[in-house]
Amino acid sequence: MQEYSPIKAGKVREIYDVGENLIMVATDRISAFDVILKNKVTGKGKILTQMSRFWFDYTSDIVSNHMVSVDVNDMPEFFRKPEFDGNSMLCKKLKMLPIECIVRGYITGSGWASYQKNGVVCGITLPQGLKECDKLPEPIYTPSTKAELGDHDENISYEKSIEVLEKLYPGHGEYYASCLKTYTIRLYEECAEYALSHGIIIADTKFEFGLDENGEVVLADEMLTPDSSRFWPLEGYEPGHGQPSFDKQFVRDWLKANPDSDYNLPQEVIDKTIEKYREAYRLLTGNEIQ
Ligand SMILES: Nc1ncnc2c1ncn2[C@@H]1O[C@H](COP(=O)(O)OP(=O)(O)O)[C@@H](O)[C@H]1O
Ligand SMILES: [Mg+2]
Repeated sequence: MQEYSPIKAGKVREIYDVGENLIMVATDRISAFDVILKNKVTGKGKILTQMSRFWFDYTSDIVSNHMVSVDVNDMPEFFRKPEFDGNSMLCKKLKMLPIECIVRGYITGSGWASYQKNGVVCGITLPQGLKECDKLPEPIYTPSTKAELGDHDENISYEKSIEVLEKLYPGHGEYYASCLKTYTIRLYEECAEYALSHGIIIADTKFEFGLDENGEVVLADEMLTPDSSRFWPLEGYEPGHGQPSFDKQFVRDWLKANPDSDYNLPQEVIDKTIEKYREAYRLLTGNEIQ
């Protein structure tokens, strides 16, 4: 049997190269305040992978995506074992476009900080009088470029995204940039509306796209998970202050209250957290995670 080791291990995910495809594995690691915690949240990886799967299916009529299969029987033998079962996605390998396609439907985080200074978020002037976490009149597309390791991603204007892509694909920059923007807004609008009617506010999110062998734009990476998005509970939503994170609320609260914990959480906090992931999955899909 051929053995594999990850070609990349991120904070939470691991990626394997299996020829024309990749296998993206969501582990049970969890990060908070940009640090990986000592604890594993058992089952989290499976929930995140199954959530991406749900959204890829849900939006396949808007744009094609990289998902090939989440069945380990479609993967090389090495992956047909419990540690990969359910948390692994076989994906078409793409040439990734170096733009992080961020869309914001609500004003929060760095957007809120910027708005308070000058009423502008990533070059987009917003109406006056917005409160923290208010819904925006319409979602805004605020792309960034992937920074080199360690650096923070850099926000760029839509025009700059054309330039970046034009440099890589002469004659196609404007077309690719407009595809990314249009798909991003449309995906967000449709999915956020769906999530809202199921009790979850998707305040903002990030998509990544790549090109297939025909030069077509394909949706990649993970999709609308709480790791790539801000999920807020609809219940109790109230602009004018920060909102609790749907999934990491207990973790963050506990870490703040226990600054000397060295990122080692009590089991009780872990248990409550996994229940939040289960709840998010249940609300969104109407199913219990298997
Ligand atoms: N279908 C795909 N083909 C090739 N690369 C992909 C595909 N989907 C996602 N990727 C890339 O895989 C990587 C996932 O890494 P990740 O764990 O998110 O860490 P980071 O975002 O910090 O690089 C990203 O570089 C992403 O652009
Ligand atoms: Mg990533």
